[in-house]
Amino acid sequence: MSRQQRKLDHITNALQTGQSRSTLLDEVNFVHQSLPNSSVEHVSLHSKMGELSLSSPIFINAMTGGGGKETLEWNQKLSVIARECGLALAVGSQMAALRSREERESYAIVRKENPTGFIMGNLGSEATVDQAKEAVEMLEANALQIHLNVIQELAMPEGDRDFKGALERIQRISDELSVPVIVKETGFGMSQDTIQKLNETSISAIDIGGFGGTNFAKIENLRRPRALDFFHEWGVPTAVSLLEAAAVNPSKTIIASGGIQNALDVLKCLSLGAKFVGIAGVVLKHVKDNGIEDTVSFLHEWHEDLRFMMCAVGAHEIDDLSAAPLIYGENIDRWLRQRGM
Ligand code: FNR
Repeated sequence: MSRQQRKLDHITNALQTGQSRSTLLDEVNFVHQSLPNSSVEHVSLHSKMGELSLSSPIFINAMTGGGGKETLEWNQKLSVIARECGLALAVGSQMAALRSREERESYAIVRKENPTGFIMGNLGSEATVDQAKEAVEMLEANALQIHLNVIQELAMPEGDRDFKGALERIQRISDELSVPVIVKETGFGMSQDTIQKLNETSISAIDIGGFGGTNFAKIENLRRPRALDFFHEWGVPTAVSLLEAAAVNPSKTIIASGGIQNALDVLKCLSLGAKFVGIAGVVLKHVKDNGIEDTVSFLHEWHEDLRFMMCAVGAHEIDDLSAAPLIYGENIDRWLRQRGM
């Protein structure tokens, strides 16, 4: 099966398997404040990664690599939505475009539609420094995401079986690139050990890419005669992955993603220490069901909802959210106890 066909299958299968709700974000609760001493008018959604300040903490995460007409159409749609909503956007893996020059237009369209937006390139951790530089050039990217997807590769019949040397390659890329490097998981979450290792590199940010949303073990298993179903429930749920990150006290910017469905999920991730929150499956589904214009309104509503909820918890800035008291449910409580956190 061609890479292009496999990537198109991902879109169909991601929409079919839908989004499970096992992020454990439903076990994170705010303590109501009757005297928040705040006003909606003074709420700012600006968020920072190092020196970089973006006008929204929400961004559209990497989807639709592979190349071909359908990738081009999706990339164009997502780029328009990102532009209209003032959101940063990551493209899907650019490996196809590095291997075949013909595929470049499918990615370059993103920059064409959104000349001044914050665009992130995307490659796997098998990438070389030269490939990383080329991926950035292709989009005039403002940052590069490097994805970690061990479980997806193992579940893929034609996937990688050797994951040695990834951390060293990431370090080299980060040292050589002129733009920030973000390392992301793809829906299986990160634990303290991984976050600690990444925190010791020169990268700029870590997207914990938690479990509980789009599930690539399930997606790949739809294409296998014998499903590796032992990977279906494998991973660190988004809420506890953020707590694992906080336990490391990292110097890097922490980014949340994985199973984000609404502005309340965004608020919870920001309160658990993330500075940015990535959304993927929920956008794909909304665009497919309702089109571009409706998705733009839908995401504008997320910003409005976020302002209202920040006002309710007494936060004017994203950074204020880390002071909001939270109450955890049983599963999170058990996780924290057993991990000694
Ligand atoms: C993805 N994702 C992804 N990630 C990545 O780093 N490179 C890629 O090429 C892709 N491709 C891709 C295709 C499709 C169709 C989907 C739905 C997703 C993973 C994505 O960025 C994100 O990490 C996961 O989807 C989890 O987030 P959600 O979907 O639960 O919000």
